[in-house]
Amino acid sequence: MSNKPLTIGLFGFGCVGQGLWKIAEQRSDIQIKKICVKSRHKPRPLPESYFTYNPDDILSDPETDVVVELIDDAGAALQILKNALQKGKHVVTANKRMLAENLIEVLRLQRQHNRAVLYEAAVCGSIPIIRTLEEYYAHQEITAIDGIFNGSTNYILTRVLDENRTYAEALHEAQKAGFAEADPTLDVEGLDPRYKLSLAILHAFGMVLLPEQIPVAGISKIGKEEVRFARQNGLSLKLSVGAVKEGNRIFAYVLPQFVPVAGALAAVRHEFNAVHITGSYTGKQLLVGKGAGSLPTALAVLSDIAALHHNYRYAYTKYANAASLEFTTDVSVKAWVRFSDGSGNHWQAFTKIIGGAANASGQVVVGELPLDKLMALQEQNRVTAVLIADDCTISTLPADATGVMQQVA
Ligand SMILES: NC(=O)c1ccc[n+]([C@@H]2O[C@H](COP(=O)([O-])OP(=O)(O)OC[C@H]3O[C@@H](n4cnc5c(N)ncnc54)[C@H](OP(=O)(O)O)[C@@H]3O)[C@@H](O)[C@H]2O)c1
Repeated sequence: MSNKPLTIGLFGFGCVGQGLWKIAEQRSDIQIKKICVKSRHKPRPLPESYFTYNPDDILSDPETDVVVELIDDAGAALQILKNALQKGKHVVTANKRMLAENLIEVLRLQRQHNRAVLYEAAVCGSIPIIRTLEEYYAHQEITAIDGIFNGSTNYILTRVLDENRTYAEALHEAQKAGFAEADPTLDVEGLDPRYKLSLAILHAFGMVLLPEQIPVAGISKIGKEEVRFARQNGLSLKLSVGAVKEGNRIFAYVLPQFVPVAGALAAVRHEFNAVHITGSYTGKQLLVGKGAGSLPTALAVLSDIAALHHNYRYAYTKYANAASLEFTTDVSVKAWVRFSDGSGNHWQAFTKIIGGAANASGQVVVGELPLDKLMALQEQNRVTAVLIADDCTISTLPADATGVMQQVA
């Protein structure tokens, strides 16, 4: 592509779209020609002449080089992406759900139409993770990628653990501050970070792992028992994502996790995100930053648009070379599992019990068990499961620790 200003057709003028407009106004190398939105009746901060309600006004415009898709509807976004590529336009998108749910199709369409689809903003907002994995880390084996991929839940957990809010209060505050949606399900149930992890896995390991394959549990079942256990043991609580490569096997998860208060992830508070990348040459490295927000996310979008100036597209280097990778849930994890139901032999799923408690109103078991058994347990309504990171030291187990131990013996 030449150095003439890129002509952009923008879909969506919400939080990120307006951020991009503000940034673009200050630059001479990009020009947003038209903006397609949905509602005809919303007041807009720009003259009506900038807007259209007909996607074709952008998609069929021969002057438009790049379609920037920043809408909140994954189904409509996929259609926009397909039509844009068919019309020979490059696409920049922030839509993690659309991308993760249609990874194979998105890869195929890029090849078929020989156009770029770039999506830095889709994973952890302003943290430059996709291109970093794709370029900088392409030259070493990555053995793990993990961290905090969702700002809303990190904000809620920080308020609950560090600032003594109840879960309901913290959720309300997150919504008021604009960190959580009115319907917070995608965030608090872990689905949003799971989309992001699916994309990160493609670029880190070269594996297509659809979101529904990745074990997930959110934070909505976290109660005062988990908060007390964390405080008693000098731990923090995060909604952690992780993907680990052992030989040719990869396991992945999105689960609440206790981490040491003195560790790097505990220091990532409120709406901030973090990504640990562990590589064969570098060891572990950490990127921390704003995972959402108008201008931070718009910067990631701008960075993709700027990359198109020099014909950048993802090489998918790891994907091209990853013939024999296998997904597994056959790994052992350390976890806290609380059962609101006091009866039953729940601890039988565990291969090693570190401690636990049982009384008429419930049971807690801390121990090791296979990841698939943990997921089967936590799917039950009245069960809360939290991973325990390897570097946690547990000094205080639940009070009546003899209950379970006696029953196991
Ligand atoms: N917000 C963030 O911090 C953030 C961070 C990373 C990634 N993202 C991703 O960025 C994308 C946009 O998020 P956002 O927070 O900016 O959303 P938003 O504030 O809810 O705005 C959504 C925009 O999309 C428009 N829209 C919806 N359906 C449309 C359709 N079929 N055709 C044309 N326009 C349509 C809406 O039009 P109206 O104005 O007419 O309603 C609105 O302008 C999402 O995929 C999100 O996951 C957001």
